Amino acid sequence: MTLQPPSLKSVPQHVALIMDGNGRWAEAKGKSRIEGHQEGAQSVRAILRAAAATGVEVITVYAFSTENWKRPPKEIEGLMKLLIESLNTYEQELHDSQIRLRIMGQLERLPTPVRKRIEKTMRETEHYAKHTLVIALSYGARAEITHATQQIAQAISNGTLKPNEITEDHITNNLYLPDLPNPELMIRTSGEVRLSNFMLWQLSYAEIIVTDTFWPEFREPQFYEALQQFERRKRRFGALDSNKGFS
Ligand code: FPP
Repeated sequence: MTLQPPSLKSVPQHVALIMDGNGRWAEAKGKSRIEGHQEGAQSVRAILRAAAATGVEVITVYAFSTENWKRPPKEIEGLMKLLIESLNTYEQELHDSQIRLRIMGQLERLPTPVRKRIEKTMRETEHYAKHTLVIALSYGARAEITHATQQIAQAISNGTLKPNEITEDHITNNLYLPDLPNPELMIRTSGEVRLSNFMLWQLSYAEIIVTDTFWPEFREPQFYEALQQFERRKRRFGALDSNKGFS
């Protein structure tokens, strides 16, 4: 069954998502946590389909934070295995929809087989320009900003930059994926109203939507509803931030 997307006048170019609630969904259904993550992977596929149908170009999903390394080894192992399995099973869908895979985070901290498997898909999809899936993996915004600061300090130490010449652009340009537009919309599932160290710099001006739906149940209809909410919020300020009246 194909779900018809709603008619939207404008959509965000980049939507970032905190995929929360896999564990609680699993618990409520009497399933294991990893089954919750597996069902969550199906939601990622659904959101990619919905993004393609509505014209959202970049989807970023928070799959594994720097803090998630503190989870039980069995769950970490299960998540890493799920990433590889998802790539093995659904990579063709990335090609069919011409989606480029990118990773945001400390790729070097991932187990070598996982890193190699991901790097292969990144290489094979890097020529797709229209749609991008960013998976935030071993990602933390504070680690990212710290890393950017180190790069800038190095430039100062080399004598190529002076402290009073540092601008916001220097920080932006030293983040993990500096060429991506900032997300205009961030969606968090399962009701928690927190940023959890996610894209702190890039989300400065983003609209934030928190839904009670657990991530495994966040599919096309819920994504469309969020886009409609985003559009209503944008419309409220349309007189100030839109120049459509002049066209
Ligand atoms: C948060 O739910 C979810 C995660 C830490 C992992 C998200 C990972 C996936 C959905 C795997 C698939 C990803 C891709 C890109 C194929 P939680 O475990 O914190 O849930 P809880 O708060 O209810 O315990």
